[in-house]
Amino acid sequence: MTDQPPVRAGLIGCGSISSSHLKTYKTCGIELAALCDRDISRAEAQRDEFGAPETPIFDDHRELLQLPDIDFVTVATPVAAHVPITVDALRAGKHVACEKPSALTVQENQQVVREARLAGKKVIFFSSRMRWGMATMAREYINNGELGEIYRVDVQYWRRRGRPGIDIIPDAHWFLDMERAGGGVIMDMGQYFMDLVMDLVGWPDITSVYGATFRGHDYDLPADVRFDVEEHCTFLAHTDGPLTFSFDMAWIAHHEAKNCISILGTEGGIRLGGGEPFTFYQDKGAPWRWVDTTSSWKDRVGGGEHAYREFIQAVRGDDTGVGTTPEQALKLTALTQMAFLSAAENRVVTPADLGAL
Ligand SMILES: NC(=O)c1ccc[n+]([C@@H]2O[C@H](COP(=O)([O-])OP(=O)(O)OC[C@H]3O[C@@H](n4cnc5c(N)ncnc54)[C@H](O)[C@@H]3O)[C@@H](O)[C@H]2O)c1
Repeated sequence: MTDQPPVRAGLIGCGSISSSHLKTYKTCGIELAALCDRDISRAEAQRDEFGAPETPIFDDHRELLQLPDIDFVTVATPVAAHVPITVDALRAGKHVACEKPSALTVQENQQVVREARLAGKKVIFFSSRMRWGMATMAREYINNGELGEIYRVDVQYWRRRGRPGIDIIPDAHWFLDMERAGGGVIMDMGQYFMDLVMDLVGWPDITSVYGATFRGHDYDLPADVRFDVEEHCTFLAHTDGPLTFSFDMAWIAHHEAKNCISILGTEGGIRLGGGEPFTFYQDKGAPWRWVDTTSSWKDRVGGGEHAYREFIQAVRGDDTGVGTTPEQALKLTALTQMAFLSAAENRVVTPADLGAL
């Protein structure tokens, strides 16, 4: 318990994910100060469920930002609005907890880096949601040096049927629209996996990327719905050391679902994910004495709650440097953009292809 007054927040974007944010506000003792959605009926619905009758609601985030007694805002809109709202919030003197992915482009992400520094306010992105749970165990093994030199990270995440806007959350058509979402599976689920593995291995510089994307499965959508993002994305990324990453991510596949992160080092390896037990693989001396340590430990606290708890601490002035920062998000955005450019031009792409980073 703390004697400090509760942190007060405004939530902008009252769609599917907003209920989860509002539930976490309650768990973490965050006071709901105001709600905003372009579609005011959505803000009303969330006020009725989570707020008090007098909780102010707005259909324009700039009005919400004028309220003086708000410490931070949560941004839970489609991606295209993340940076414009984040920048307005920073200029209004608010901290920001923004949904993932951070931005549509590297240039947009750079703007957040600049504006956060200018405002002296904290910004986090929720791509950090997977950094807890079993990842905590992986981090301990890595930090204790038990993997030796890490040289490979492989991520496989396939859904059998899981295109947002088609197969799941069918009303959210914006997920399918490049202009509003910035991409498909890599912008949606890819951000979590990229954040997690980059964080585990210390955010190395990426030196080149070679990738491919695919869209071509059947769908049934109204004629006016734009669907121009990828359903499947595969890429290999080199770092400035021996470490390489491979990512293979699909919203839809005629195959069983996959969810597996493998991290290989010269002394040991780790497997995470997919509801399987965490496993640390090691050879304890010749000839081939395998010692596989598994743990079925489950973290009952969700990643969103962990992120908010650390964010509140930062808002109160004790910033331990956690959460996907604008600088880290910029690395994820650059990696994403390199994968897209490589796929579009069928060639190896380097950071120089994106302009100044
Ligand atoms: N749905 C999920 O399961 C999920 C999970 C994790 C993260 N996210 C992320 O959360 C964000 C929102 O996703 P969602 O699924 O809730 O989308 P959604 O379409 O259900 O809701 C988005 C809401 O934002 C509102 N909105 C759009 N532009 C606005 C603006 N300029 N100002 C105020 N309101 C505006 C819309 O009217 C809508 O109510 C996305 O970045 C998404 O990647 C979603």
